[in-house]
Amino acid sequence: MILRKLARWFSTLKNRSGNTPLVVIKGKLQKKGSTSSWLQNHSRDIFVRMAAQDHYPCRSAYKLIHIDEKFKLLKQGITVVDLGAFPGGWTKVAIERVNSKIQGLSSNSSHKGKIGKVISVDKASMNPVLGATVFGNCDINDFLTLEKIKGELQGKADVVLSDMAVNACGIPEADFDKNLELCRTVLKLIPEILKKKGKTVLKLTGNGSPNDFIKSLKENFSKVKFFRPESTRKSSSEVFIVCLGYGEKNST
Ligand SMILES: C[S@@+](CC[C@H](N)C(=O)[O-])C[C@H]1O[C@@H](n2cnc3c(N)ncnc32)[C@H](O)[C@@H]1O
Repeated sequence: MILRKLARWFSTLKNRSGNTPLVVIKGKLQKKGSTSSWLQNHSRDIFVRMAAQDHYPCRSAYKLIHIDEKFKLLKQGITVVDLGAFPGGWTKVAIERVNSKIQGLSSNSSHKGKIGKVISVDKASMNPVLGATVFGNCDINDFLTLEKIKGELQGKADVVLSDMAVNACGIPEADFDKNLELCRTVLKLIPEILKKKGKTVLKLTGNGSPNDFIKSLKENFSKVKFFRPESTRKSSSEVFIVCLGYGEKNST
């Protein structure tokens, strides 16, 4: 019975698109023929090519670079928590900018400048990264994940980054709700892991109104800004919420 229903559903999809079957690509139903055009666009994408040249694991590294160029979040010697870190683009940018690679080098190295710290967390499994403490297979909703972060911080972070996103289901409103929930989880963790006057970046994707959440952010941070880096794809609904001055009086 269920199989018959599924078969009927698939044939409807096929008929709706003429003879071309529909497939899910990047969370959206598209004609199968468009897989190759997505790949073509991807390989033509300037940030994909730059990432390969600059040895970043993915193009999203440039999103943090562009956010940092605008808001000057990352400095030598500071401590950064990177949530949703896999495959490691933001982690690599953070390591370079806070100067934490020395962590993995011998003590007589000639490395100069203040030495920072990067703690990277993802629910996906991650390989070790020189210059960062990596917690793979760690869901941010799990109490033990917070304990691990706090144990490694031994104090609080200057910056908390979250590029976390759920796997898109293709319904922008449902994706928005789930991604907003991830942002709310980060906001709940902030008092435990972010220093006073600290900064945070949260990614929000999907279709919906974050007004209540923005209100909560404004109660906790002195400045709350929306930013879409030039490296965000035009087709993407993502926006980054940059929050400055944790625990300081709101001036906006
Ligand atoms: C867009 S990717 C991050 C890309 C990364 N910033 C980079 O530059 O390489 C989003 C990540 O969020 C992670 N994620 C989603 N929900 C999570 C959760 N509850 N806890 C931890 N990580 C999560 C996913 O596993 C995924 O790797």
